Amino acid sequence: MAMHVSSACFSVFSQRKVHRIRAIASEDFASLKVAAEEKVKLGGSDLKVTRLGIGAWSWGDTSYWNNFEWDDRKMKAAKAAFDASVDSGITLFDTAEVYGSGFLLGAVNSETLLGRFIRERKEKEPEVEVAVATKFAALPWRLGRQSVLTALKDSLCRLGLPSVELYQLHWPGVWGNEGYIDGLGDAVEQGLVKAVGVSNYSEKRLREAYEKLKMRGIPLASNQVNYSLIYRAPEENGVKAACDELGITLIAYSPIAQGVLTGKYTPENPPTGPRGRIYTPEFLTRLQPLLNRVKAVGENYSKTSTQVVLNWLMAQENVVPIPGAKNAEQAEEFAGALGWKITEEEASELRSLASEIKPVIGFPVEKL
Ligand SMILES: NC(=O)c1ccc[n+]([C@@H]2O[C@H](COP(=O)([O-])OP(=O)(O)OC[C@H]3O[C@@H](n4cnc5c(N)ncnc54)[C@H](OP(=O)(O)O)[C@@H]3O)[C@@H](O)[C@H]2O)c1
Repeated sequence: MAMHVSSACFSVFSQRKVHRIRAIASEDFASLKVAAEEKVKLGGSDLKVTRLGIGAWSWGDTSYWNNFEWDDRKMKAAKAAFDASVDSGITLFDTAEVYGSGFLLGAVNSETLLGRFIRERKEKEPEVEVAVATKFAALPWRLGRQSVLTALKDSLCRLGLPSVELYQLHWPGVWGNEGYIDGLGDAVEQGLVKAVGVSNYSEKRLREAYEKLKMRGIPLASNQVNYSLIYRAPEENGVKAACDELGITLIAYSPIAQGVLTGKYTPENPPTGPRGRIYTPEFLTRLQPLLNRVKAVGENYSKTSTQVVLNWLMAQENVVPIPGAKNAEQAEEFAGALGWKITEEEASELRSLASEIKPVIGFPVEKL
């Protein structure tokens, strides 16, 4: 009997405790959602986006992510990542015509998936608003402004949308760049996009693109580049300073260093696949002091390492990070990077610790 009473008490207590935890969790969720929903203007355009977006490169991809395989389970996880982002207030999604390229066995185009996820969500919640950013691949045989419009219309077709919020040149072309910039301007004037941007553009190319669009009265809204605590090339090559000077938003890709800054990969447990060749056990060993400090900073705020490194990026001002999420848990964690700010001392301490680590090789197109 005693046993019965105590277990009943335990059960009542634990139920109360569960309710309390749920109540706290929902209070936290509500305040996190308010922070995540806050919007910023993208460069000089009229487009407003959430302070953080979600990258959709891994959705449908079999070239780099997903152990070269795509299946129904991964598709459901990607859809859950999309829904969890929207639920938490994050509504900017970054994709590209080449993500999940149909040339690769088993791949599904990321734009097609994103379009489907948006439609399915809108069926249940018609008022939901999502901002789609996609990109034009500057392939060597694509020349002239018309190639941009043709590619954009194909993207819209895959997305199932009449227009997108942001259209970006994925990387500078070997030639044909002037025509591509003209094509971006045409896309705005034809109402196919709200804002235009570039990606992997050097300071010189950025200034040229900005001036060319400015002559038509169109602002260059963004430059999407590789930027994280351990890849700070934009601070050193003039790109960040030029973005700040011209009022162009820097969209930071690979902001958690492809998962490495979350702290889940260690020298004993390095990432598999192509990432394993970049983030080797030797590199991960050199990274440990920084990762330990990131974790300790997070403990001051009850935040995870992932949230700290994303917060560090946003503390640089004029930066919108777009971490990739493969599942709901990853997407939910990103929202916790918003609504608070590490101190300047913590930010500079992390930068100086990171400076001791030689960065990995970036995407070579940055230097084109
Ligand atoms: N413009 C360009 O040239 C360019 C280039 C690269 C990327 N991008 C864009 O930027 C986006 C993000 O970059 P990225 O995907 O290269 O790298 P990232 O955002 O730094 O890392 C994403 C990876 O980290 C892991 N991860 C995500 N959230 C996590 C969490 N909460 N906890 C632990 N692990 C987590 C996941 O991989 P695992 O679970 O497998 O570890 C995920 O795929 C892309 O999706 C794409 O939209 C653009």
